[in-house]
Amino acid sequence: MNDKTYILGIESSCDDTSAAVLEDNVLKANIISNQEVHRKYGGVVPELASRAHQQNIIPVVDTALKTAGITKNQLSCIAFTRGPGLLGSLLVGTSFAKSFALGLNIPLIEVDHLRAHILAHFIRKGDENQKFPEFPFLCLTVSGGHTQIVKVNNPGSMELVGKTIDDAAGEAFDKAAKIMGLPYPGGPVIDKLAGEGNPDAFSFPKPNISGLDFSFSGLKTSFLYLIRDKLKKDPQFIEKHKADLASSIQKTIIEILLEKLSNAARKYNIAHVAIAGGVSANSQLRQKLAEAGVKKGWDIYIPEFQFTTDNAAMIAIAGYFKYLEGAFSSLDVTPYARSKF
Ligand code: KG4
Ligand code: ZN
Repeated sequence: MNDKTYILGIESSCDDTSAAVLEDNVLKANIISNQEVHRKYGGVVPELASRAHQQNIIPVVDTALKTAGITKNQLSCIAFTRGPGLLGSLLVGTSFAKSFALGLNIPLIEVDHLRAHILAHFIRKGDENQKFPEFPFLCLTVSGGHTQIVKVNNPGSMELVGKTIDDAAGEAFDKAAKIMGLPYPGGPVIDKLAGEGNPDAFSFPKPNISGLDFSFSGLKTSFLYLIRDKLKKDPQFIEKHKADLASSIQKTIIEILLEKLSNAARKYNIAHVAIAGGVSANSQLRQKLAEAGVKKGWDIYIPEFQFTTDNAAMIAIAGYFKYLEGAFSSLDVTPYARSKF
């Protein structure tokens, strides 16, 4: 008898259509189809995103099942992103997941996208020595839409202890890139450029926000004003200094993030610290966190690149934990746009 659990994960909250298969907690397939259509608009166009999801979802699921080497009849459950995200995009994944689960007569499991980013740390890649976070741990979730510090007590119990009061960290990267005339999404472009620049070339004031909350809108404004002023004197300013600008803004964003994370670790007396979300792909954030770990005696957890930006493997692992608890959803479940944290 086969007592393995096969979970199909489906992610469609923004502009990536993704399907993944896990065998228990072990990754068998993680297929991601990026939507190039948004690039020329400098940001995600919701209507175009949902149309692209409709075109992509069946081929992506089909490829995930084939890559995993299983048929749909072997699936134990379907986990899907219920929110937060773009409603039109979420509807495509939700409707697909519902009809597939109904057709196969297997449980449907709703997953919160932000909790899934955190639980991505528990996806096993077949390595027996893989190190998973110990509970309780702190997770800095940094993406295009969210910036949060979460205290994770166990997979089903998470407390939001800090959040941004305006822009997300990913937005700060994307907006800085836009000001410099760089393509969307700006985070990876800034990361690359920053490698060739001087992080101390320009300095920006850091926000003075009490507690564990973040703010990035002031930083964006001071970056904009600096560039505006300099361009008046030298129209080639951006071109001449783009690596230094990228490196300096990146350094400031990372300092803001790590300062609050350190404060959280001190406040809760927790030395297990993780990062998650699209911005956790940033090379300097990864390096600075590793350095902070050595200095402060933290055990740190940095996700593999394939689990940083949006992917369905993280949805599937979050679904696996719920499957073990029998936490299933009804077929009349509807998506939500805003975070439930
Ligand atoms: O988690 P994610 O894929 O989607 C959301 O749920 O938002 O995150 C996307 C964000 C974008 O803002 C993108 O610019 C940023 O992650 N990002 C990065 C890097 N790679 C992606 N930011 C900084 N450095 C990177 N290497
Ligand atoms: Zn995300």
